[in-house]
Amino acid sequence: MKPIVADADAISHAADLLRQGRLVAFPTETVYGLGADASNPVAVAAIFKAKGRPADHPLIVHIADIDSLYDWASTVPDAALTLAHRFWPGPLAMILNKKPEVPLAVTGGQQTVGLRMPDHPVALALLKSFGGGVAAPSANRFCRISPTQAVHVSEELGDAVDMILDGGTCQVGVESTIIDLSGSKPRLLRPGHITRQEIEAVLQTELLIPPASKPAEIRAPGMMAVHYAPTTPAMRCPAEQLPDRMQKLVADGKRIGLLSYQLQIPETGQIRVLRLPKQASDYAQRLYAALRELDSLQLDLILVEQPPQTESWRAINDRLSKATVASATAPCVA
Ligand code: TXA
Ligand code: MG
Repeated sequence: MKPIVADADAISHAADLLRQGRLVAFPTETVYGLGADASNPVAVAAIFKAKGRPADHPLIVHIADIDSLYDWASTVPDAALTLAHRFWPGPLAMILNKKPEVPLAVTGGQQTVGLRMPDHPVALALLKSFGGGVAAPSANRFCRISPTQAVHVSEELGDAVDMILDGGTCQVGVESTIIDLSGSKPRLLRPGHITRQEIEAVLQTELLIPPASKPAEIRAPGMMAVHYAPTTPAMRCPAEQLPDRMQKLVADGKRIGLLSYQLQIPETGQIRVLRLPKQASDYAQRLYAALRELDSLQLDLILVEQPPQTESWRAINDRLSKATVASATAPCVA
């Protein structure tokens, strides 16, 4: 499926398709979403089929305004309103207790629902034109790298989607921050562009932080897939270890890709280098496209220079920990 420039006609046609229960990929400020009418369980089932995603993974429902929270959530706690007024439209999703009529197909069988008002003119125009909630996971195949450009969606989903609205490159580049407000204390479920500190400052309370997920297991082509992952084996590595490792790999005849942000290593016939910005938000914006580019080169290994482990890099480190293995856990790889 070829992307279509998201002008007014295209958006209105996309809204019609959603009404017919079809799938529309659309841009948001974070990543491209694969959208369907969230009130139509058959349409929602098509999302899972197109992505190859297990049906017990809940989807985020995208809404056009803060008032629409009441269409989906059985209760809207003060904290949710406070966060919505401060950060919406924006890269924040909130988990709230669902209304009985919200299809279980959307919530992965749970009694809670994820809600987000995206900050992208095309997404907002589509939501307004459609007039309801749009369930939309990232528009990639299950466990693969999220798309940040319309062409990535075509590469990922081909004709499994009925329309791809092209709204340019996503500005944030990593998925939204997710806060669970369905229990007695707010929990950070997924770090994103909006940081823990920003949310804690607004809520004036500490967030519960679930323990970090286990590091990704060592992957070889055809072995287990890991979230946000390229198909090429990928390893993150501290800058000081990179020159040695690369030298050994080159001596072994390997072709390697390097995703650096600080280290300067010259390219050779065997080494392809992509350098990302030193500022976390700029790095995040370009991360997935860079991983995708290196993944397309049929290299033996992608090495990622370990970014700083500070709060502003939390979302990036979270995604990298799922897309790559740590060099410390894979000494045999290089
Ligand atoms: O930035 C984003 O949030 C993008 C764009 C398209 O909006 N969407 C996105 O969707 O990242 P997805 O499906 O790839 O990730 C949604 C995450 C999943 O990890 C899912 O488990 C979690 O949200 N989630 C959704 N509803 C939930 C619920 N009721 N309880 C717990 N987690 C939920
Ligand atoms: Mg996703």
